[in-house]
Amino acid sequence: MALVAPSLLACNFLKLEEECKMVNESEADWFHLDVMDGRFVPNISFGIPIIEHVRKIATKTCDVHLMIEEPGSLVPAFKKAGADQITVHIEVCPNLHRNIQQIKELGMLAGVAINPHTPVSSLSDIIADLHQVIVMSVNPGFGGQKFIPHTLEKIRQLRKLIDERGLNVLIEIDGGVTLENAAEIMSAGADVLVAGNTVFSAPDPVDVISQLKRMARAR
Ligand code: DX5
Ligand code: ZN
Repeated sequence: MALVAPSLLACNFLKLEEECKMVNESEADWFHLDVMDGRFVPNISFGIPIIEHVRKIATKTCDVHLMIEEPGSLVPAFKKAGADQITVHIEVCPNLHRNIQQIKELGMLAGVAINPHTPVSSLSDIIADLHQVIVMSVNPGFGGQKFIPHTLEKIRQLRKLIDERGLNVLIEIDGGVTLENAAEIMSAGADVLVAGNTVFSAPDPVDVISQLKRMARAR
């Protein structure tokens, strides 16, 4: 059954504790935490101190998505802050295998994210070392963008690659996930739905999470 990972990027940071408790008490599976550096992506979000605070109350997996250059120098600090799993972007990691080994040696699960223009084939020689792949369905940097339809084809290609090799890698889809497109995304082969605005801009976020989980069960 597909997992649901609300992205705190879209939460009300004045009520961070309440928002985290809402996720704890909901049917959500993971906390998705978006870190941006203003260099790899044209925006800055939050970093280590916020993740430390979230970790204190989060009762679920903290899934850290690093949209930053040279992630290797900060991976130990994110581990210390409480990350359970870290995903780095292939576009900024010339020594990607080393980055993945570092994350795993620190006792975390490792993932690679690919931007909308990055082909699935670029994962061919790293996929067997991964726990998750984030397929970006928007250009990274901002919440609330529109899902890029071509991404569905990328999910299918990745599903095929993973299944053909008999691997156990999760396909996480990130950006523009809504109640309207979630079913199609899951039928394409996604295992994890990241959802920012769809969850946190809703009048009843807990209910939206339940609706996504209900669709996942019906998959
Ligand atoms: C975008 C981030 C996403 C973002 C998704 O760069 O990686 O995780 O929070 O937000 P929505 O679901 O609003 O598109
Ligand atoms: Zn993300």
